[in-house]
Amino acid sequence: MKPVSFYLVTDTHYFENELGAEGKAFEEYFSREQYFMKESSDILKTTFSRIAEDKETDIVIIPGDLTKNGELESHKSFIKELYALKEKGKKIYVITAGHDYGDDSFAFKNDVRISVEGADFKKLHEMYKDFGYGDALAFDEPTHSYVAQICDGVRMLAICCDSENQPKGAMDERHLLWAEEQIKKAKEDGCSMFAICHYPIIPSVPVFDLVGDTKVKEWRKIASFLADNGVELILTGHMHIQSINEFYSEKGNRLIDVCTSCLTGSPAKYRKITVDENSVLKVTSIDVEDFGCDTNGLSVQEYFDKQFERAILGKIFHALGKGKGFVKFLKNLGVKFIKSATVGTLSRLLFIKVDKNLKKKKLTELISDIGMCIFAGDQPYVEGTPEYEAVYKFLKRFSFVIKKIEPKLGKNGVKINLEEMLLNTIGNNKGFSDANAEFKLK
Ligand SMILES: [Fe+2]
Ligand SMILES: [Fe+2]
Repeated sequence: MKPVSFYLVTDTHYFENELGAEGKAFEEYFSREQYFMKESSDILKTTFSRIAEDKETDIVIIPGDLTKNGELESHKSFIKELYALKEKGKKIYVITAGHDYGDDSFAFKNDVRISVEGADFKKLHEMYKDFGYGDALAFDEPTHSYVAQICDGVRMLAICCDSENQPKGAMDERHLLWAEEQIKKAKEDGCSMFAICHYPIIPSVPVFDLVGDTKVKEWRKIASFLADNGVELILTGHMHIQSINEFYSEKGNRLIDVCTSCLTGSPAKYRKITVDENSVLKVTSIDVEDFGCDTNGLSVQEYFDKQFERAILGKIFHALGKGKGFVKFLKNLGVKFIKSATVGTLSRLLFIKVDKNLKKKKLTELISDIGMCIFAGDQPYVEGTPEYEAVYKFLKRFSFVIKKIEPKLGKNGVKINLEEMLLNTIGNNKGFSDANAEFKLK
């Protein structure tokens, strides 16, 4: 691949505060939200000013979920920030995604949730004409995918599979044919090509293979299509997770998927990506810096993490709060148990031996720890750690259930080893980091 260097910022989920983010309904909503809403403007401004200071690269790429939930006013304010960065000498390329249009945009005023005007999908490419769409070499009208010449000898295939005309996260045959033509054209013109897509192509962690909407539909087919056509690198978002994954097609071709965190929520990172003259790809992760808000004495990272932890538990307890009659009664018991128990209590109930330090840990703490470590990348709970041993024994205790559900989970003849998937989800065994990594490209 030919040399190129750029910043990758994703899932900015920008919200225009004038719309309203206050009151009881907002507080209730925010207790289950991973990323910040009111602070998004300050986070973006701080990040863009850091990027503007770097004279080594003049390219910034943002693969979707630009706004909180498609509010037209959020788009207008976000676009102003893009123009301000452009004035400082940066070329910016965006694609839009599911949170950038539609009729489900909302804000919070006077203790209630209110509907606000959402952006029209058909108008998005016009609104963002100065950020990739306007000077695209090719534009696919139905999906808003496009091709950009981002520097001499390097093209970017911007794949949008969040259009209003097709199922979210899907690439149909027509779309694939269009993409194939663009890749072929780039080769004929002597250009290297990488791709971006809002949806991860490769599941970010093994267990996401079993969870819908966490990656493109028919991901093995799409990953093989890209790899076999000579696209070795794709940059993605959507899952708000730090992950880097490799996939090899049956023909032995590789695709590397660099999926990056949400900018406005834990783990709150963005990346600088370079490919040098020897085709060495270098991925570096950067923390969102102090964005000037009152963090109650916490570091910025701790402040982000605290909200994420609150959101994980908020989501679990909210889900358990639903139901009627006896089901509700059982769920309430479950909530009470999770809130009060330690890992030691649970291990005694299941006749499992766990590390003595882990015994004292509250169950809620272990749940949020594991949840956060999955999304932060470089998951630390590998074999030999007390957390790995506890989860391993827990899974063994329930192996009779796991063996029953495994055959139902495998699709298209793919055999599932759920235990292995879960253990590789809490401990990174890939041999390279999800944060900072180097690969020799073709
Ligand atoms: Fe997102
Ligand atoms: Fe998304």
